[in-house]
Amino acid sequence: MRMRKKRHLEQRMEACADLLLARGKPCRNLKEAAENYRFLLDYRAVFGNDNPVELEVGCGNGGFLLEKAKREPNTNFLAVELCTNVILTAMERVRAEGLGNIRFLNIPAEILECYIPPRSVGVIYLNFSTPLPEKSREKQRLTSMRFLKIYDILLKNGGRIEQKTDSREFFDYSLARFEEAGYAVREITRDLHRSPYAATNIVTEYEASFLQKGLPISRAVAVKPL
Ligand SMILES: C[S@@+](CC[C@H](N)C(=O)[O-])C[C@H]1O[C@@H](n2cnc3c(N)ncnc32)[C@H](O)[C@@H]1O
Repeated sequence: MRMRKKRHLEQRMEACADLLLARGKPCRNLKEAAENYRFLLDYRAVFGNDNPVELEVGCGNGGFLLEKAKREPNTNFLAVELCTNVILTAMERVRAEGLGNIRFLNIPAEILECYIPPRSVGVIYLNFSTPLPEKSREKQRLTSMRFLKIYDILLKNGGRIEQKTDSREFFDYSLARFEEAGYAVREITRDLHRSPYAATNIVTEYEASFLQKGLPISRAVAVKPL
């Protein structure tokens, strides 16, 4: 089902322009953009400091990073989201809270290399990425080898990917891909909310709805070699 466009979308996007670092695709062909287009962020100019940078792919309404940014004021966060309707909500929430350590990219993750400097990110969060079980859509899964190659360029050595999902099949698929990519997989749980990691967990919007239905949440941390 297509989501109805938010009222006054463009005016509201414009009002959040200072939080938005990139929007749309620089060329029609994503592959060509990923290979050739570069407009790399200068973090010092963006955030006014040299604090570590972490990134969430598919931030949705932004609840996770909003809480994360409040808890960790000395970390800078980049929120990546394909859907303009959705990222607008996240940006308006950040604006209302007056948080200075989050910025947004309204782009497909396929072109992250165009904007994110190589080896500049400490953590990539993948919260409840769409599992896309159809074989024909494997390349679109955010933990496919195609995306792991992109994350590998962005992540510092020793950096990590933290994944949460409600889908057992997608989780198993992701664990296999992390290992195939040479990452050490740690802190694996198939029932996050009954694990020691629950105490520090931030519940995302999708997670809250899965919890209401009584579904167990899987989580793992994949660490890039030094
Ligand atoms: C199921 S929602 C989860 C939202 C949020 N992380 C949460 O846990 O509540 C997945 C989000 O990822 C975004 N997304 C999917 N594929 C993407 C891509 N290739 N690049 C950027 N965002 C993407 C979707 O638009 C959607 O908002």
